[in-house]
Amino acid sequence: MSRTTLSRYLIEQTRSHNTPADLRFLVEVVARACKAISHAVSKGALGGVLGSTDTENVQGEVQKKLDVMSNEILLEANEWGGTLAGMASEEMDKPYQIPGRYPKGAYLLLFDPLDGSSNIDVNVSVGTIFSVLRCPGDCFSQNDALGEEAFLQPGTKQVAAGYAVYGPQTMLILTLGDGVKGFTLDRELGSFVLTHENMNVPQSTAEFAINMSNQRHWEPPVQRYVSELLAGEEGPLGKNYNMRWIASMVADVHRILTRGGIFMYPRDAREPDKPGKLRLMYEANPMSFIIEQAGGMATNGQQRILDVQPKSLHERVAVFLGSKEEVERVTGYHQG
Ligand code: AHG
Ligand code: MN
Ligand code: MN
Repeated sequence: MSRTTLSRYLIEQTRSHNTPADLRFLVEVVARACKAISHAVSKGALGGVLGSTDTENVQGEVQKKLDVMSNEILLEANEWGGTLAGMASEEMDKPYQIPGRYPKGAYLLLFDPLDGSSNIDVNVSVGTIFSVLRCPGDCFSQNDALGEEAFLQPGTKQVAAGYAVYGPQTMLILTLGDGVKGFTLDRELGSFVLTHENMNVPQSTAEFAINMSNQRHWEPPVQRYVSELLAGEEGPLGKNYNMRWIASMVADVHRILTRGGIFMYPRDAREPDKPGKLRLMYEANPMSFIIEQAGGMATNGQQRILDVQPKSLHERVAVFLGSKEEVERVTGYHQG
């Protein structure tokens, strides 16, 4: 049986959907970096990669050693290939400039190099999330430093998005705007092999994901919705729900993509000036693009996440995503 590797899938996409060759190369290089990160993550204590650094990132969060290593792996893999005008990362305050000695290209790459990093030291799944935008106008042909403004495009402008999940299996989930494909890393061959042709989020579900410890800080629409879920068969929704919370968005979204569910990280009263915890540009947007491409739905309670016009690179957003029926319901509670 001949197997479809990521490279072969991308070449076929170039033929059938006119996927530009530079975009294909870009995705291949990101996938290669994810393989390297997977390798580093899997070494654990043997590789001396566990634990924290003594630095904080732009968001004031303590950086894990693997946060920093993964960021460096992605930057080094992608800076020389000539496909990018710049990169942006959770771990860097400002956009990363392509060094002058390398050619520049038409795309912008944004990433969360290691998502769920509180789970690394306890050997629970983590991942990498990425989003690809076009560099607007002729920004890549200018010699000036690339500013933040070039990145501030709504999620509808993404040309590709994906994530790698480093779990019992390492998988790469990818959308080029034409459905969602899942690839599993064959460690012996060293290649990602297409194993999930057509990933679809079931429309209805009986499973939800939210960090319940924040309940007292939630706003009324979320209080109402979750209390209805908890009321089960006797409540207004008339069925019993199960709950899961891994605290790695990648792992929670991967479960939802596989068997349905709703994922919520609402805004809450802990930091009233911030509209949630998760970052719009490199967490919520790529995940929303994937979920929509798989037939699900993603909102911030008020509007479709992909329509949100970003104002800053590290902007936060409330997230409700997954099975349509449930995302519609909780979004509706925000309107009333
Ligand atoms: P990161 O490790 O990139 O900072 O992201 C962690 C995020 C997300 O993956 C997860 O869903 C959420 O934080 C968990 O937050 P709580 O610890 O508040 O539950
Ligand atoms: Mn994250
Ligand atoms: Mn991260």
